[in-house]
Amino acid sequence: MDLQKLFKNFENLDQKEVKVTAWTKSNRLSGKLGFLEINDGTYLDNVQVVYKKNIIENFDEVASLRLSSAVEIKGMLKLTPSAKQPFEIAAEKIEILKTSDEKFPLQAKEQSLEFLREIAHIRAKTNYFNAIFKIRSNLSFYIHEYFNANNFVYLQSPIITANDAEGAGESFTVTTIKNDKYDQDFFGKKASLTVSGQLQAESYAQAFKNVYTFGPTFRAENSNTSRHAAEFWMIEPEVAFSDLKQNMDLAEDLLKSIVKKLFVNNINEINLLSTKNEIDLETRFKEIIEKEFFRITYTEAIDILQKAVKSKKVSFEINDINWGMDLQSEHERYICETVYNAPVFVTDYPSKIKAFYMKQNADNKTVAACDLLVPGVGELIGGSQREDDYQKLVNKAKEFNIDEKDLSWYFELRNFGYASSAGFGLGFERLIMYLTGVSNIRDVIAFPRTPKNIKY
Ligand code: 4AD
Ligand code: MG
Repeated sequence: MDLQKLFKNFENLDQKEVKVTAWTKSNRLSGKLGFLEINDGTYLDNVQVVYKKNIIENFDEVASLRLSSAVEIKGMLKLTPSAKQPFEIAAEKIEILKTSDEKFPLQAKEQSLEFLREIAHIRAKTNYFNAIFKIRSNLSFYIHEYFNANNFVYLQSPIITANDAEGAGESFTVTTIKNDKYDQDFFGKKASLTVSGQLQAESYAQAFKNVYTFGPTFRAENSNTSRHAAEFWMIEPEVAFSDLKQNMDLAEDLLKSIVKKLFVNNINEINLLSTKNEIDLETRFKEIIEKEFFRITYTEAIDILQKAVKSKKVSFEINDINWGMDLQSEHERYICETVYNAPVFVTDYPSKIKAFYMKQNADNKTVAACDLLVPGVGELIGGSQREDDYQKLVNKAKEFNIDEKDLSWYFELRNFGYASSAGFGLGFERLIMYLTGVSNIRDVIAFPRTPKNIKY
């Protein structure tokens, strides 16, 4: 029986026989009595197994079991209302399924996250990573559930593509040849791993109105930060007939809805992570659920930053704040952490610093973009209303040195009833960081890919 089921039903199982398979988490001896803590990973808390010399045939072997040995326990469940744990198992038979040897690197005491990163194939056996990856799995389900309930079609956009959707030149090339003669390559043209499923999502939004992608994306950004990975997962909804405001409303509603579910269903994991990460996640969740997100324009953000620098309230590494500049993460974090201490949408960025596909505003200087900045993470979401005018889009692509014939299929959508469309990209790892208080992206994805790091 899974421990999860045991924890759900223990009140009905008092004085009943149970059988469980699990790994040992600690083993303590007190004379003729032994105490095994076991866990099978299906539940955060361990179960205590009490074993006695006069009952257990292989008492000495069990007493010498190391951490992470696999055992099958048969015994009687007993409620222990006065103890820390609500019940324990009085063992009648302990079968050793597989021992673990002295090289097992995890110890009962806390080990540093840096050390655990070096053993990414084993770290999930700790309750810290158990909590993070259960939340990751559940969050993914809540996101699918949200879109499913709201009439969205799940589009599995391609992983190998012929375009760099963001035009940032950060894609990984996919090739079977040893030179760069891509016309002789597998696809007869240069191919790469996708940096975003947006362009394909736009095409499907023109058929289904509401679509979303949820898949891996790849960026060869050589930035070795705690918030960038070369392989990360992104959720990209795209909605036809939608504008920038509706786009932000969707993002806000999605976040509120999934955080509500997390709060109810994952409270054990949340409590553990609040303690270990020394952060009050409950307050963070209430902030998300109960309050409207702030919405300011890029121009207002620049104003806030300029005033802050002038009044010496803050000193940035880059203190020279000018309209037109790209906001650095220190600026983003100042706005959402110090000024608002809450999620903040920043909208209407200068067109020069945003991707070519964003809709030009009437001022001819800014585009209908929205980034969501959140405390502890910075940019969580990047989105926009899309340019729906064929000629404006083609001209803009030219300005960005994008070859027209590579994206003719994408431009052409504008000629077939493309009234409007908007969407956003939500970085899944950054979302998990925000909702767990984990400060390094390497700790929320199972086998992180970052520069000079691909052991697994
Ligand atoms: O802002 P980005 O680049 O937007 C796009 O890719 C658009 N095509 C989205 C759309 O409109 N459909 O990326 C979206 C989000 C970021 O806000 C960030 O959360 C995450 O993806 N992200 C990364 N996460 C981890 N590591 C990286 N290297 C990331 N780059 C972006
Ligand atoms: Mg962005």
